[in-house]
Amino acid sequence: MLGVNSIEPGFPFSSPGQLESTPRVNAHVIIFSVPPFRLALSAGGGYTERTMPSLSLPALSRRAFTATVLPVAGALVRAAAPLERWAFLSDTHVPSHPTAEYRGFRPYENTMKVVAQLHQAKPDGALICGDLARLEGQLGDYENLKALLDPLATEVPIAYVLGNHDHRKNFLRVFPRHEGAQQVKDKHVVVLETPTVRFILLDSLFLVNQVAGLLGKAQRLWLAQFLANASARPTLLFVHHTLDDGDGALLDAPRLFDIVQPARMVKAIIYGHSHAYGFRKEGDLDLINIPAVGYNFSDNHPVGWIEARVTREGGEFTLHAIGGDRSRNGETTKLRWRAS
Ligand SMILES: [Fe+2]
Repeated sequence: MLGVNSIEPGFPFSSPGQLESTPRVNAHVIIFSVPPFRLALSAGGGYTERTMPSLSLPALSRRAFTATVLPVAGALVRAAAPLERWAFLSDTHVPSHPTAEYRGFRPYENTMKVVAQLHQAKPDGALICGDLARLEGQLGDYENLKALLDPLATEVPIAYVLGNHDHRKNFLRVFPRHEGAQQVKDKHVVVLETPTVRFILLDSLFLVNQVAGLLGKAQRLWLAQFLANASARPTLLFVHHTLDDGDGALLDAPRLFDIVQPARMVKAIIYGHSHAYGFRKEGDLDLINIPAVGYNFSDNHPVGWIEARVTREGGEFTLHAIGGDRSRNGETTKLRWRAS
């Protein structure tokens, strides 16, 4: 069950208040039992960031640490950005009719269950990686999703990616305001700058209710220009579609990799679409396929969400399975970001 390449106990997190030197780890993927939620100071030197359009993070700001200089082992070590806890969701597929089923799952009820878990978990923020709506992005789908999320949204910032079962215009009618939204023609693109990392939410919605996805030239040019001017803050990209060469994947995935691979601040691409859960690499870039909330496509995949604890050095990703194959429920996978 354990897919372990190598293990570095405690990496990259330390006990609250403990400072650690920059860890040297060769690990790529480490899976172990679930640790309790905890805050930590991670290693590293100071950092200077340019001010960029960003989402305000009220929950996070309450927890954020101010960079300070403390004596450790005779040296001055600067306490860096905090560990952040994010909820990664995908493929909620919330329908207009709450009792609608697919493969024996009720996506409305699944989303309700996950929202209840997020109320308990109280993450710093939540990101939903597309296919928010059932199939065609009907207004009623988004209205139901909004009703489910509204109580959570008062406590936790939530950001949204669009997928092939979304309808951009309907989505924006129900969810009209998005801090961090970028000016990209006919696309819903968002940049979130947090104290620790940067999230870039791309839009691969090409044709509503058709499987394949496309970023398109304008968005690719925007991304290339943005990354060329971005600071070295660790950056995680979110896009709905899978990144393989299938006809239903992201059709311009090779061009996306051409842009992202040399941009060393980009550490991982996170996607949904497959309704499966898994980790792999493209070169030294981490690719994280997060499971669906609504339903799986095959019985051997979980339905649920991912709790992500990220630092500037890497991340821990814990599966919270609410249905489907629950055999990996509670598993945590550790990643060390590629070097800058
Ligand atoms: Fe989906």
